[in-house]
Amino acid sequence: MKKNIAISVSTDPIPNYSDIIDYAKYMQTRVEFLHCDVMDGKFVEKVTYDASLIKNINLNSLIMLDVHLMVDEPAYYIDDYINAGANILTIHYEAFKNKEKLPEAIHHIKERNTLVGLSIKPATSFKEIRTFAYTVDVILVMSVEPGLSGQKFMPEILDKIAEINKFREENNLRFKIEVDGGVNATNAKSIIDAGADILVSGMYVYGAKNRDVAIEELRGN
Ligand code: DX5
Ligand code: ZN
Repeated sequence: MKKNIAISVSTDPIPNYSDIIDYAKYMQTRVEFLHCDVMDGKFVEKVTYDASLIKNINLNSLIMLDVHLMVDEPAYYIDDYINAGANILTIHYEAFKNKEKLPEAIHHIKERNTLVGLSIKPATSFKEIRTFAYTVDVILVMSVEPGLSGQKFMPEILDKIAEINKFREENNLRFKIEVDGGVNATNAKSIIDAGADILVSGMYVYGAKNRDVAIEELRGN
């Protein structure tokens, strides 16, 4: 049986924030999620929008919001993004100076009936976050350095995806594997075969001549 793949289209390549709502409305009947990349100028160089724009998207579209917080000390902002309407709220393992605060943050997101994602940068091994695989809903595997859309997929990340998938199977866990960075029609199949369930797409879909075709290509149709 063919696996069901969810597509989460990223807001990152959209230069004008006023265009994001139109993109969300267009995408709401075509893909599963809008991937909202939030950057604070500290965890990554770039600064983007914050929870107020996400609230606006939520008020003006039906799309599910997959919020990827690329910010330092994300625990402080959890409530803002949940109040804004995040359906999945993903925080970065590396963004916690004090790793002891991470279980508390995960618990807080779950307590507020929001799906919780934990993300790791390319250099962080799955081993470091393995204990959280029992509690999170999503593991977001970065396949580029966070901070910029339009980078090249790092093929060595396929092994990490397969390792996470194997661990999930062996332990009968239900979290989803989301892959973010450089995903396109050429590499999508290998990413799905390695175990991914959710593919993030920034430039590939946004920059496509025909976005509907690009989405179907990612799904393998
Ligand atoms: C990178 C962001 C990604 C990015 C994906 O910092 O987290 O979500 O926008 O864009 P593409 O698909 O263009 O690599
Ligand atoms: Zn992202």
